Amino acid sequence: MNLLIMGPPGAGKGTQAEVLVKELQITHISTGDMFRNAIKEGTEMGKKAREYMDRGELVPDEVVVGMVKDRLSQPDCAKGFLLDGFPRTLPQARALDETLPSMGIKLDGVINIDVPRERLMARLTGRRVCKNCGASYHILFNPPQTPGKCNACGGELYQRSDDNEEAVANRLDVYEAQTQPLIDYYKEKGLLKNINGDQEIGKVLADILASLK
Ligand code: AP5
Ligand code: MG
Ligand code: ZN
Repeated sequence: MNLLIMGPPGAGKGTQAEVLVKELQITHISTGDMFRNAIKEGTEMGKKAREYMDRGELVPDEVVVGMVKDRLSQPDCAKGFLLDGFPRTLPQARALDETLPSMGIKLDGVINIDVPRERLMARLTGRRVCKNCGASYHILFNPPQTPGKCNACGGELYQRSDDNEEAVANRLDVYEAQTQPLIDYYKEKGLLKNINGDQEIGKVLADILASLK
């Protein structure tokens, strides 16, 4: 199964993707995680991306599209994939539409996690992420078993540099201006699965799995 997962910053894309890819045995591709890895490794692309990310701006389309095309051609995507955080603009969506058929790939669905804006600031400023495996926690809504440590791998938890109030406010504005229009784009293609993300994490997962049946 080849899927996209969309939704505003803090909607729970990463949280749901982590479980969904295990359940469906497909590959998780998060463009945000790919950029954070590039930053950690100190690559040229990482240095470029960091300036945009820390301000809560989007990395330019041509950089992201090239990176995703490369990733989709790797062998682990043949069993199916879940793209998280891509596409985020109409030009990115059109580029994906052109690329997939030439690779013999068809999209099976687009999961849209819907959460009201007023919930998202608290989710993001309270988030903690595993340095080692990228798993997301929340100091109140989804605390780890041991404070500061990842349940899955024991890795150290940190706060993302774009999870401060100023960057989050900008990310939410950027989402509304540039990414929200994609909901109609995929609705018109008959691919959209709208999911209420303002529910307990397990209920959101159950709704997503039901929508894919
Ligand atoms: P990216 O890493 O994709 O960030 P984002 O879209 O802002 O989304 P988040 O990862 O912040 O949120 P999420 O939906 O994954 O939420 P999570 O599950 O962690 O992108 C970062 C940056 O990279 C962008 O700003 C941009 O600069 C660049 N970039 C990436 N892709 C790009 C592209 N295609 N084009 C251009 N630039 C790109 O959950 C959030 C918190 O809420 C956690 O604490 C979690 O525990 C909690 N939570 C989750 N679900 C629930 C629930 N149901 N109830 C209560 N709390 C919950
Ligand atoms: Mg994420
Ligand atoms: Zn971990």
